[in-house]
Amino acid sequence: MKHPSKRQALQLGLAAVAAATLALGAGNALAQGAKLKVGLMLPYTGTFAALGTAIENGFRLHVDELGGKLGGREIEYVKVDDESDPAKATDNVNKLIKRDNVDVIVGTVHSGVAMAMAKAAKDSGTLLIVPNAGANAVTGPMCAPNIFRSSFSNWQPGYAMGEALAKRGAKNVVTITWKYAAGDESVGGFKEAFEKGGGKVVKELSLPFPNVEFQALLTEIAALKPDAVYTFFAGGGAVKFVKDYAAAGLKGKIPLVGAGFLTDGTLPAQGADADGLLTALHYADSLDNPKDKAFRTAYAQAFKLQPDVYAVQGYDAAQMLAVGLAATKGDVGKKAEFAAAVQKATIDSPRGKFTIGKSHNPVQDMYLRQVVGGENKVIGIASKALADPGRGCRM
Ligand code: BEZ
Repeated sequence: MKHPSKRQALQLGLAAVAAATLALGAGNALAQGAKLKVGLMLPYTGTFAALGTAIENGFRLHVDELGGKLGGREIEYVKVDDESDPAKATDNVNKLIKRDNVDVIVGTVHSGVAMAMAKAAKDSGTLLIVPNAGANAVTGPMCAPNIFRSSFSNWQPGYAMGEALAKRGAKNVVTITWKYAAGDESVGGFKEAFEKGGGKVVKELSLPFPNVEFQALLTEIAALKPDAVYTFFAGGGAVKFVKDYAAAGLKGKIPLVGAGFLTDGTLPAQGADADGLLTALHYADSLDNPKDKAFRTAYAQAFKLQPDVYAVQGYDAAQMLAVGLAATKGDVGKKAEFAAAVQKATIDSPRGKFTIGKSHNPVQDMYLRQVVGGENKVIGIASKALADPGRGCRM
């Protein structure tokens, strides 16, 4: 082995002193009861704005249930509106990491933005909990000891819906989605299971995110006359798609199915146009478990709104953070202890209990739901304890 030069040795020594000072600083801050800085990087404008607000509400609800503290530390929130814009994502996440010096980042909704956040978290070692964005890579090739997800991978609801639709005997299906990671990966999961079950995806249609000019694509679907249409849309785009599908005369003629985001948090705006739609997701409006009942009552009381899957994922992001910080007594620097505690936990979620897989993604039931009377009613389990195929990462 080559010995370091005097200059290199000096540099190494200085780096070690700096690291020790930082660690000591963090220790002192903890000892002096410093607040835990939580960076919320979420969309507060654009087609996913309501999703961002629901996530924040859910997160705050659980923190409030714990008396406003996690791991014994009071919380200070710092917020960034990421606008669901991947082009601004690196700058936005670096504001939280470098300018605001947050202890943990909670975000975001959009898969493209989340990938930039995961890279920054991996490079800097900042703790990141993803409360929605399903980008497969985040808990696949990009997974890291300090990155966790409280939601799903895009593959999961797609795969569950593909299995369920194949079992119902559909043969030829057209897919339609936004052309970005979430849409592509949701369709990928659907296609994998649907074709394994004997069906065929005959055409994959798409439009750029967050475009909502669906007319030409709906005309193409009408001409193709498939047995069913599978879709991934969410938020404002999902509202418009369901309404346009009905207005184009396709409702009742060609069954529309989807990843459950199509009808979650959107039903009041979609009205009767959503009646009967079949979707797969890890949450529903009619779950009969005590945790969900208590959660729904508390959420409605606090925010004068009905919760949805996004609120649940925000709530569970806080639950996961609370588990990790309880194990480290509030010290985010103890990454191995934090990860070990979260990985062996069972999270008592409003969606039903779930565990965290080795890639830090939930292992969870996927419900088959149908819209009845303005609610996503459970009509079966599409996939039991579905784990993402991510092979796990070396910690
Ligand atoms: C995503 O970009 O990963 C996503 C956005 C909204 C709902 C679900 C997934």
